[in-house]
Amino acid sequence: MDWGMKNRFNKIIRPKDGRTVMLAVDHGYFLGPTTGLERFADTVVPLLPYADTLMLTRGALRNYIPPESDVPIVLRVSGGTSILNKNLLHEGIITSVEEAIRLNAVGLAFSILVGAEFERDTILNFTKVIDEAERYGIPVIAVTAVGRDMVKDAKYLSLATRMAGELGARIVKTYFCENFERVVETSPVPVVIAGGKKIPEKDALEMTYNAIQAGAAGVDMGRNIFQSENPVAMIKAVRAVVHENYTAKEAYELFLAEKKGEGKN
Ligand code: R5P
Repeated sequence: MDWGMKNRFNKIIRPKDGRTVMLAVDHGYFLGPTTGLERFADTVVPLLPYADTLMLTRGALRNYIPPESDVPIVLRVSGGTSILNKNLLHEGIITSVEEAIRLNAVGLAFSILVGAEFERDTILNFTKVIDEAERYGIPVIAVTAVGRDMVKDAKYLSLATRMAGELGARIVKTYFCENFERVVETSPVPVVIAGGKKIPEKDALEMTYNAIQAGAAGVDMGRNIFQSENPVAMIKAVRAVVHENYTAKEAYELFLAEKKGEGKN
């Protein structure tokens, strides 16, 4: 890796432990005012001190995040369809690499829709973005397996993850599943998990713990943090699992203490 690529990559996956807590708040690009993000800045700005990286759209970045913030930005650059469209899984390029450079992004996130009707379009656009981003030393993160139609098992997720890595992604974001070790072991690049739809905090911390034990480099988590009854307490608990090797039980205890205002960190 060239210096610029290494430096940006290290701002996403922290070199001290090879792990990351990416905060995903890009949902508005196809879901509009997602629950928990209606008043975007009120929810997200208090979480910034605990996020290694913030993943969002250019519009959310410009309008809701103070430019004084030093959180590294991963820009969502694929999209083009909404939740109302039956062809939701047909995304194209929505933001140029030039714009990402102007916004000082350290990485780009692009969805590839492996197995969907328009997979070829999404994959060819993905590799086009990678070719350009690599020219400027910007890592591209593949977002895999979004969509209700996909069976998110180890067979499918390792297929999508391996493809993304071989096609040039520097990091792959996927979902946790049974036998997740297989997904990690067959990936040429670090793998992080999305949280998926909101589940109880205890369960989300258990999933995070199991993913880390299976070799995940961390999380790219959204709803299970910003839709939590206490988002700051939840991101601190997730961080403790990812960076401080807390067990799920210890992290849940931390969550409860933070929620009550008794937390130490
Ligand atoms: C989906 O394409 C978006 O990129 C979300 O950022 C992603 O699904 C992660 O968020 P969540 O943890 O809410 O699933």
